[in-house]
Amino acid sequence: MIDAAVQQLAEKGWCALRGFLSGELVQRLAEDARRLHATGQMRPAATGQGAQREVRAGLRDDAIAWLEESPASPAQLEYLSRMEALRLAANRELQLGLFDLETHFARYPAGARYQKHLDTFQQDGRRTLSVICYLNAGWQESDGGQLRIYLDEDNASRHADILPEGGTLACFLSHRFPHEVLPASRERLSLTGWFRRRA
Ligand code: OGA
Ligand code: MN
Repeated sequence: MIDAAVQQLAEKGWCALRGFLSGELVQRLAEDARRLHATGQMRPAATGQGAQREVRAGLRDDAIAWLEESPASPAQLEYLSRMEALRLAANRELQLGLFDLETHFARYPAGARYQKHLDTFQQDGRRTLSVICYLNAGWQESDGGQLRIYLDEDNASRHADILPEGGTLACFLSHRFPHEVLPASRERLSLTGWFRRRA
């Protein structure tokens, strides 16, 4: 699985892989996300950094909880060890120099979206590889909520749509691919992270 992800990254700079996390792990991580939501530990997500940081409804309507801010459950430790294996393989095969991972749960209520954006901050180029694992069992095409990755800056019709089905991994080079989250008709849960280089 990890090899397949790294190979796709080498070929095209992004990857989509179904079944990257087992159904059982997805279920435990989804329970963590729901518990964080139910106990008020998810906060409206902001955009930007430093003086540019703001919470703007309509641009991005999800709520997030950083993994770094609460003790990791066994399921989260398992996810983090998969991410560590991905980091090492990407460094070995692609010389990306990935140093650490920042990661959060995200919950999009039905109807929420995240408009087209890049994941790198204006003043901080450390984010190098964006990684998203979806936690939604039984997702259908008709549920919407696709991650749309724009493959060609000059031609918006060239894009890839990834369904946020439980266990699917999406990753892409953060500085290269603008992307958006299309609105879904049901709650949409994920773990989103960024591997960073050193400053
Ligand atoms: C993000 C993002 C994509 C997704 O959080 O920056 O683009 O599919 N998420 O959840
Ligand atoms: Mn993004």
